[in-house]
Amino acid sequence: MFGKSVTAIKNFSAEEIRTVLDAAYKFKQIIRRGGNKKLSNLRGKAIVNLFYEPSTRTRTSFELAGKYLGADVVSINSGTSSIVKGESLRDTLRTIEAMGVDAIVMRHKAEGAADFATQVVKPVIINAGDGAHAHPSQALLDLFTIEQRKGRLAGLKVAIVGDILHSRVARSDVYAMTRMGMEVRFAGFKTLLPRFFEFDGVKVYESLDEAISGVDVINVLRIQLERQQAGLFPSTREYARVFGINDERLRLAADDVLILHPGPQNKGLEISSAVTYCEQSAIHDQVQNGVAVRMALLDLTLGGGA
Ligand code: CP
Repeated sequence: MFGKSVTAIKNFSAEEIRTVLDAAYKFKQIIRRGGNKKLSNLRGKAIVNLFYEPSTRTRTSFELAGKYLGADVVSINSGTSSIVKGESLRDTLRTIEAMGVDAIVMRHKAEGAADFATQVVKPVIINAGDGAHAHPSQALLDLFTIEQRKGRLAGLKVAIVGDILHSRVARSDVYAMTRMGMEVRFAGFKTLLPRFFEFDGVKVYESLDEAISGVDVINVLRIQLERQQAGLFPSTREYARVFGINDERLRLAADDVLILHPGPQNKGLEISSAVTYCEQSAIHDQVQNGVAVRMALLDLTLGGGA
């Protein structure tokens, strides 16, 4: 994977996904052992985080991942950069490239922005989310979290619930999960499902109760209020009643069902506070695992996994 840009998980084979997960186990041990976490794998490498959209988890964990591996990492805040003066994406990328960086981790509202970047500059490009298209590192950390908690991936059933139409997480998870032998179900209001159904083998449910019956994992998606057009669901109250994951709903699922949410959450809308903090919730693990998985991705693509 040395030198490979990571723009979408659908470009990863099952073997490459396995390689990332195996490396992440090693890095998670290093993060958790306490004391000095700093390694020298990427000493002398420079990474720029270029985020055109807000982020807490992805941006911070990529920054920490690069620093733990010994790289120099700079995060550009789009609001205080020359982007606000109207500099184009191409010019911004070329400007960063000219400073001698080895990788650009980027988030952009336009689908295909990361692929575009691979065509205009030479550094490794890691897609940290492009519109509703892809969020590959999120899919990898979701797989890692499931495997850690369930002990396997193949054969598990997952219900992905909510705003699938606007979700790069759903689009990335479905490729990653099916590639690793998992069964994926989608559940949501019809208006929040993709209009042109592009996923082979995914079962679609309009009843949440049916969708979560017998599954091993429920991945609750954030309702992306910032990307919504009006009228896609009757009201937030109605959404919470029909598709919200709360204690009552959880009782319909298996006792050991695992709860995921990529964050940030709209509490009381797609998920209740009680479910977020219940025993089956792995939401906190997802955040911690994000650092280990992103260390694995950076080490494999920039350091050759040495
Ligand atoms: N899951 C996720 O992408 O979260 P952030 O927007 O906080 O990075």
